[in-house]
Amino acid sequence: MSTATLKIAILGKGAIGSLIAYSCHQQKLDYQLLLKTSIAITLDIETINGDKALINPHTSDIKSASDFDVVVLPIKAYQVLGALQQLSKKIKPKHTLVLLHNGMGTIEQVKALYPINPIIAGTTSYGAYKPTETSVKATGLGETHLGWITKPDDNASLIESSVSKLLPPNTWHQDIRLALWSKLTINSVINPLTAINDIKNGELADKKYQQDIQAICSEVAQVMNAVGYATSTEALQQNVMKVIKATANNYSSMHQDISFKRKSEIEFINGYVGKKSQELNISTPKNQELFTKIKELEG
Ligand code: PAF
Repeated sequence: MSTATLKIAILGKGAIGSLIAYSCHQQKLDYQLLLKTSIAITLDIETINGDKALINPHTSDIKSASDFDVVVLPIKAYQVLGALQQLSKKIKPKHTLVLLHNGMGTIEQVKALYPINPIIAGTTSYGAYKPTETSVKATGLGETHLGWITKPDDNASLIESSVSKLLPPNTWHQDIRLALWSKLTINSVINPLTAINDIKNGELADKKYQQDIQAICSEVAQVMNAVGYATSTEALQQNVMKVIKATANNYSSMHQDISFKRKSEIEFINGYVGKKSQELNISTPKNQELFTKIKELEG
């Protein structure tokens, strides 16, 4: 394994997956897109600077993927398990699995399936959407937080430098779970509230949403404290308000999922808060209420 030969597989051609493919293309990395069928595709990319590019990524059918060292999973949390099962014949214990999605709960699932494999978990604030099946428009230059869940004995720094090229700038964390909890809090507030009220993120700065925001943050803070991360309702709320302002013009991913009648990630967001709180005997009625409402909207 050398940097020049580190082979990257990207699962799916979702918005973030396509941005990663573009990044690989620009940096001439050895990469392939794993799709349900290995049809030739042209991706039409528009970057945050307005630059436009057409790329023809090498694609493989997920079941007959060419060899790789690292597989990046920029897919919805509820798709992770199924995708890894489809890839199971191709995944060897040395392969690094990179989880990159909103919500929590997949680390446990993946570790149960692949107890030996190196695993990286991450969260990114890059924003992008797909106006059509094969076009992607970046809406925000973000940053990416990454950390090892299972670190390999060899080559960890080589893998880190390769994964760091995908969605820079990056921060590598000793304990990525804290960063994941922080993002989970943001998603527990912004995603269901924007979807239920049919609003852009920025509208959540209005006075009328502050009581709900405080209630969600207070419940998440209790769960975080119980699992060993010292925090407060105020600290979480302040961070959430910062993201509401920074992404004021965006429609959240859950708003988009609900408006396009797609399955949402609620089970891995407020649902995860609910699941953890049950295990810990903590009551989280606001998160439960939002979970139920989004489930109703999913139809
Ligand atoms: O899911 C989303 O939409 C994003 O994670 C966030 C940060 C809430 C911004 O819209």
